[in-house]
Amino acid sequence: MHNDIAEILVSESQIQEICQTLGARLSKDYAGKQPLFVGLLKGCMPFMSDLSKHVDLKIELAYMSVSSYHGGISSSGDVKIKMDLDISIKGRDVVIVEDIVDTASTIVTIIELFKHRGASSVKTVTLLDKPEGRKRPYQPEYVGYVIPKAFVVGYGLDYNEYYRNLPYVGILKPEIYNS
Ligand code: PRP
Repeated sequence: MHNDIAEILVSESQIQEICQTLGARLSKDYAGKQPLFVGLLKGCMPFMSDLSKHVDLKIELAYMSVSSYHGGISSSGDVKIKMDLDISIKGRDVVIVEDIVDTASTIVTIIELFKHRGASSVKTVTLLDKPEGRKRPYQPEYVGYVIPKAFVVGYGLDYNEYYRNLPYVGILKPEIYNS
């Protein structure tokens, strides 16, 4: 698995520092509140787990399964909800937890949905931001690391469902998806 990686972009220790920093910011900004953290599966899984341990607040965790890639290396822009939330978000302060914001099709669609459902506030925390990939204008409020326009995997991010269990984020060798 590691041999398929051309370059490590965000190391394990960098990721842990990011989780600490973002967790501290969220704890301060949401002090006195009980926000609902909504992770977008499957990519959010390791980030949600590590980040939430650094949030010093009574938070609730919930998950939705959303997909826009449908395999391959570029977003289809067609956002599908494969599993919806099992709780109401009306009147809640919602923090969406993402592994990456790329075209922003996924996050913009979900934010519109949550506002329509009556959330009090909706903000986004993302481990990775790829601003050069944008097809819709959007700036996440909490960003761990800004990456260049490369296809990255690891720490939740996949290529055809593999590499999610890498402990770091790396650039996949092009021969893997060109072969
Ligand atoms: C990935 C990622 C984000 C989304 C970002 O999910 O987890 O949710 O794409 O891309 P965008 O900004 O271009 O919309 P994916 O659809 O691959 O599903 P997964 O989390 O199950 O891998």
